[in-house]
Amino acid sequence: MQRTWQEPEAAGLHVGVIMDGNGRWATARGLPRAAGHREGADAVRRLVESAPATGIGTLTLFAFSSDNWRRPGREVQWLLRLFREHLRTETARCVVTGVRLNVIGRRDRMPRSLAAAVGAAESATAAGRRLHLRIAIDYSARDAILRAAQCLPPDAVPSRDSFARLLSIVDHAPPAPPVDLLIRTGGEQRLSDFLLWECAYAELHFTPRMWPDFDHADLARALADFHGRERRFGALPGTAPDLQPIAGRI
Ligand code: IPE
Ligand code: IPE
Ligand code: MG
Repeated sequence: MQRTWQEPEAAGLHVGVIMDGNGRWATARGLPRAAGHREGADAVRRLVESAPATGIGTLTLFAFSSDNWRRPGREVQWLLRLFREHLRTETARCVVTGVRLNVIGRRDRMPRSLAAAVGAAESATAAGRRLHLRIAIDYSARDAILRAAQCLPPDAVPSRDSFARLLSIVDHAPPAPPVDLLIRTGGEQRLSDFLLWECAYAELHFTPRMWPDFDHADLARALADFHGRERRFGALPGTAPDLQPIAGRI
């Protein structure tokens, strides 16, 4: 498909989403869990379509955690196949709509066909500037932090910025800003090892909506919730936060 237009470098909010509840959505309807995952992929498509118009510049979606390998082999196989098919079918749309796609997480344990689909999608969409879409597959924030720490030279004194850049390198993706808003569907209120460093000052929005049902109205609600929050970053209410650490300056 032909690229139709291009915008300047994506700016705007970084929203992370823990897309939870596919299995329960399916079970509640007497369907196999796989059906929930398939519906979940449609919800991803909808969200990616509507995100840029809502001021989102970076969207990081938790698709498969490194702990999800503990699930039955059949479910894992199904999910990996679904990711491969989704990447193959969505790449052309991403190119046309200016979406840059990256997959973060480990690549060495994925099936070769999935790794190839990831590489192809990343190359084809590299010029996208309207939305930076990051899909986390075989992702563990703790493992990413450990791997980044292992990359530090022995005498290095990393700053927050330099360590964040290192994290993006171990994630195989261009640097992304800190997460502004973290949404978790499915009713659980936990992070499940997602973007622990990047969410240091994220606003958290938990919703009981199961992921396959998540729609534009849910996104609008989450964003309205976010815009109603006062972000202080440790400073006092109503003052412009000075984001430089001051401990060493006193
Ligand atoms: C999220 O839905 C998708 C993945 C973790 C891969 P779940 O599969 O965790 O759905 P529930 O939480 O069992 O309903
Ligand atoms: C988190 O969901 C991982 C993804 C959404 C990909 P889980 O369903 O795996 O998390 P827990 O087990 O409830 O913490
Ligand atoms: Mg779950």
